[in-house]
Amino acid sequence: MASIAGNCRVLRSNRAVQRIYLDHNATTPLSRAVLERMTAVLSEEFGNPSSVHHFGQRAKAAMDESRSAVATLLGVDPSEVVFTSGGTESDNAAIRGVAEALEPTGRRHLVASSIEHEAVLNTLKGLARRGWRTTLLPLDASGIVAPDALKAALADDTALVSIMHANNEIGTIQPIAELARLARERGAVFHTDAVQSAGKIPVNARALGVDLLSMSAHKLYGPKGVGALWIRRGLRLLPLMSGGKQERNRRAGTENVAGVVGLGVAAHVAREKMADESVRLSALRDRLEAGILGHVPGTAVNGDPTQRVPNTTNISFDRIEAESLLIALDLEGVAVSTGSACSSGTLEPSHVLKAMGLSAHRTQNSIRFSLGAANTEAEIDHVVSVMPRIVDKLRSLTRVG
Ligand SMILES: Cc1ncc(COP(=O)(O)O)c(C=O)c1O
Repeated sequence: MASIAGNCRVLRSNRAVQRIYLDHNATTPLSRAVLERMTAVLSEEFGNPSSVHHFGQRAKAAMDESRSAVATLLGVDPSEVVFTSGGTESDNAAIRGVAEALEPTGRRHLVASSIEHEAVLNTLKGLARRGWRTTLLPLDASGIVAPDALKAALADDTALVSIMHANNEIGTIQPIAELARLARERGAVFHTDAVQSAGKIPVNARALGVDLLSMSAHKLYGPKGVGALWIRRGLRLLPLMSGGKQERNRRAGTENVAGVVGLGVAAHVAREKMADESVRLSALRDRLEAGILGHVPGTAVNGDPTQRVPNTTNISFDRIEAESLLIALDLEGVAVSTGSACSSGTLEPSHVLKAMGLSAHRTQNSIRFSLGAANTEAEIDHVVSVMPRIVDKLRSLTRVG
């Protein structure tokens, strides 16, 4: 396999190139509207939202406005929205919170799909070490969890099922409403990680029939380090942290007011732009995909071609190591990512592609392109135009070496 990556990473060239950012599933730039509102809050609305006086109440009002914007995006009541430090905390709070609340009832079984984010998978591993039984569900070849697989896994003592709405690597959307119905029929609580879907496609927590839903601001042009967990009214879960009574006793600690306000603005803007942006982005994504598949032999798309978020495509390149292609593209000014992580100098296969049953090589030769607000047709055409040369060069290294 061609490798210019050496020990996974090499020193980068700093020569001036046109930069094209196609890694929006990793994070998005802050939108101007978010930045302006956050700047105003940071400089003027510095009060502690728990304080009774004017300064505190101004900060509290700013947070309330944000809570309403998030609730509107998710189709829920503002009182059910809890602000957190991001998607990772929301996932932890949901899973640990329910597992520990239900522990005395004897429900000690947890279920998740095998393509969850580490925030879910490692939380389950931690609980497994403390005695919980865990089941990871298989997927079909397009990356979808079959409802029958969940049905077979559910047991009388299943406490919680956690299945992501959209996958971060391949963008595939799961049939959450059906999966949640099956779980709830067996008395299990259902959590969905909507970090990669909220703001990209309509997400209505009530229509999905879930009990808990995680989201994160930095995937929708908001700031890093802030997110939300929607908790269906009446659902009991133990909080992760002990401390003050903030967030109705569900998340202790003085709030990140500016971050929360940034999340609110981002949620509001995402909702307003969603219909147009999803049409624009899926057209750009399809143009990129058709361009690569048409001009670079030995390529294939991973994941479901229709059931996926509009901004994401994941493409395998035969006889290429993904990390090498990522670095070659970066030197060309194009930022993408791979699902295969570099660990101790070796390339770990993507756990998502592996769970889909792809061959060992294909789990290590795939690149994720995730598009966003600033991308243009001209940028996509540029990426398509440089791709054959870069891939040919990497493949020729394989032949030589
Ligand atoms: C599906 C999914 N869940 C959770 C997270 C974690 O979110 P955060 O970075 O806000 O902790 C991510 C981030 O990449 C994600 O893609």
